[in-house]
Amino acid sequence: MRRTLILLSAGAVTAAAAVVALSPSANAATTLGAAAAEKGRYFGTAVAAYKLSDAVYSGILDREFTSVTPENEMKWDATEPSQGTFSYAAADTIVNRALANGQKVRGHALAWHSQQPSWAQNLSGAALRTAMVNHVTQVATHYRGKIDSWDVVNEAFADGSTGARRDSNLQRTGNDWIEVAFRAARAADPGAKLCYNDYNTDGQNAKSNAVYAMVQDFKARGVPIDCVGFQSHFNAQSPLPADYQANLQRFANLGVDVQITELDIEGSGSAQAASYAAVVRACLAVTRCNGITVWGIRDSDSWRAGGTPLLFDGNGNPKAAYTAVLTELGGATPSPSVSASVSASVSPSVSPSDPQAGSGCAATTSVNAWTGGFVVTVKVTAGAARINGWTVAVTLPSGSTITNTWNATASGSGAFTNVGYNGGVAAGGSTEFGFQGTGTALTGTPTCTAR
Ligand code: XIL
Repeated sequence: MRRTLILLSAGAVTAAAAVVALSPSANAATTLGAAAAEKGRYFGTAVAAYKLSDAVYSGILDREFTSVTPENEMKWDATEPSQGTFSYAAADTIVNRALANGQKVRGHALAWHSQQPSWAQNLSGAALRTAMVNHVTQVATHYRGKIDSWDVVNEAFADGSTGARRDSNLQRTGNDWIEVAFRAARAADPGAKLCYNDYNTDGQNAKSNAVYAMVQDFKARGVPIDCVGFQSHFNAQSPLPADYQANLQRFANLGVDVQITELDIEGSGSAQAASYAAVVRACLAVTRCNGITVWGIRDSDSWRAGGTPLLFDGNGNPKAAYTAVLTELGGATPSPSVSASVSASVSPSVSPSDPQAGSGCAATTSVNAWTGGFVVTVKVTAGAARINGWTVAVTLPSGSTITNTWNATASGSGAFTNVGYNGGVAAGGSTEFGFQGTGTALTGTPTCTAR
């Protein structure tokens, strides 16, 4: 469609006093989210619920980002402050707002040694194991169908050269606590991708080798794991490793998605920008690197604000790092160069032959089929304009029956329509729904109609 959009027909050129000079990048995406979408990826940020009323903050959030991660609001201390009493208000605010805006949500984090409520810190053994499983089950069930990817377990390995598990109250309940958490999460929300997330695993080292061995073992034994998150908190002491891309690739080769989950890079100017560009380049070079999340919007929003590690300055202005990321994603900052010296004007309208005229949607499928049954995940991607609802039509072979649908409403004729929270999709953004059936799965590409 991008190519179609710049096919300005001769009829669209009219006599006028000025020309809008179309540089080669005039049709490039102008936001992080739209540029990443053109590469089949999301571009996300950590979000703090209490900042959403800040118009500068929420303005950048909605303009630039296609995924959000609650920075603290889904952690154990926030969601289960006393045992068996769940508190979702702050996280719900972030999740529902994001879904209404067509942004994905990364859930963070179900089981972690840190930011536990004090009651959990004081538990051990079987009581803690039971409490952990209940926590995973309750929270994943509450958000069932709304989460793109869950950090099921966070930071479970030790730093340094041992390759050992990190000592924690959870680890002391038994080495199998990680797989138990993953199985509980899968049972509670079968549609979410389940990730293991950690830091200092960004290059190949003893810690990432240990995580790699765990993922390999999980895949071999059928423990449900779909993705590995690489936090990517970089600074002078912990710089971007030279083998970052190779490390992402070796994990992807195990059959999991890889995601950059908490990116921030301390520094400033061109050095910082170059590191950010290198991270984006690495992700784009790894097919299964399907999204990048920065850990905050403005430098002043960062958990390490002193290191000015983010893409926007404290006033919300894009930094050199922002431009580097956007450029690396194939986008360009909007720069309409207007010259008064030329006597013809190119209308910015599109060719009448463009069927979508900058709007519309497309649907792609991924099919998991077995003898007698199938699960289809459908990704709905908005075109160059925001859409407010969508319908996807699929053709099933005769004899096939749809038995279950999530994140959409099915009609008997093979049409699926958005539900309340996922009809709105930002320009270039996407949302997913799925269905299960008996018989043979569909072939061919579904059609998508936008409202
Ligand atoms: C940080 C938050 O950004 C802070 O606001 C909070 O005080 C501490 O946690 N690894 C993680 C994140 O997985 O949850 C952490 O977030 C940063 C390190």
